Amino acid sequence: MFITSKVWNTDHGYKEARAAFERSLQRLGFDYVDLYLIHWPMPKRLETWKALEAIYEEGLVRAIGVSNFVPRHLDELLATGSIIPAVDQIEMHPFLARKDVLEYCKENNISVEAFSPLARGRHLDHPVLVKIAKRNGRTPAQVMIRWCLQKGATAIPKSVHPVRMRENLRALDFSLASEDVAALDDLDRNARTTTWDPYTFI
Ligand SMILES: NC(=O)c1ccc[n+]([C@@H]2O[C@H](COP(=O)([O-])OP(=O)(O)OC[C@H]3O[C@@H](n4cnc5c(N)ncnc54)[C@H](OP(=O)(O)O)[C@@H]3O)[C@@H](O)[C@H]2O)c1
Repeated sequence: MFITSKVWNTDHGYKEARAAFERSLQRLGFDYVDLYLIHWPMPKRLETWKALEAIYEEGLVRAIGVSNFVPRHLDELLATGSIIPAVDQIEMHPFLARKDVLEYCKENNISVEAFSPLARGRHLDHPVLVKIAKRNGRTPAQVMIRWCLQKGATAIPKSVHPVRMRENLRALDFSLASEDVAALDDLDRNARTTTWDPYTFI
């Protein structure tokens, strides 16, 4: 088990984030979590990051990071913070490649964690995806997850069905040829599933 929790948007600020973290620990019944993130780049994010740094220094989390941060937000954090975020959890899948974030994170040693790597199931019947899946003897979901992994990200697909959880996990035991990766790269169309666009957060 790897436990991640996040500071919610209404709990930003130094004291507020600290209190929110303590409430989360209490609700979970743990004395630490593996990863604690800032959910969105809200206006008080730098103050909030200071709280996460303090929580980390005290050993209450194994790692701290952010979510939905784009290079501009990361630049600001790296310039003012003392700890580099371990993770940026962003929406990423072949239909939303987020090349700028990937590149930035690679250069700065930040791990990218792809959320909604299946685009919430919206494009699983796309002909290119179906063709690549058939050619590899895999499912479209496995191909989408595998693409994230081969782009250097980790992925957190969600399913309530054990059979699909097993299917998704098996994205770890094959690899896509470079021409398949290139064909999937061509599917990028900035198809966000979240209502909010992180690039509009100043
Ligand atoms: N940081 C953020 O702002 C943020 C935002 C959104 C989501 N997330 C996180 O990202 C994770 C996953 O994202 P998500 O749930 O939005 O989207 P997702 O993982 O891309 O898609 C989940 C959907 O795909 C279905 N599914 C799962 N495996 C499948 C398979 N093998 N074949 C066909 N359908 C399959 C699921 O249905 P069943 O459950 O019925 O199998 C569900 O409807 C969650 O842990 C979520 O908390 C983070």
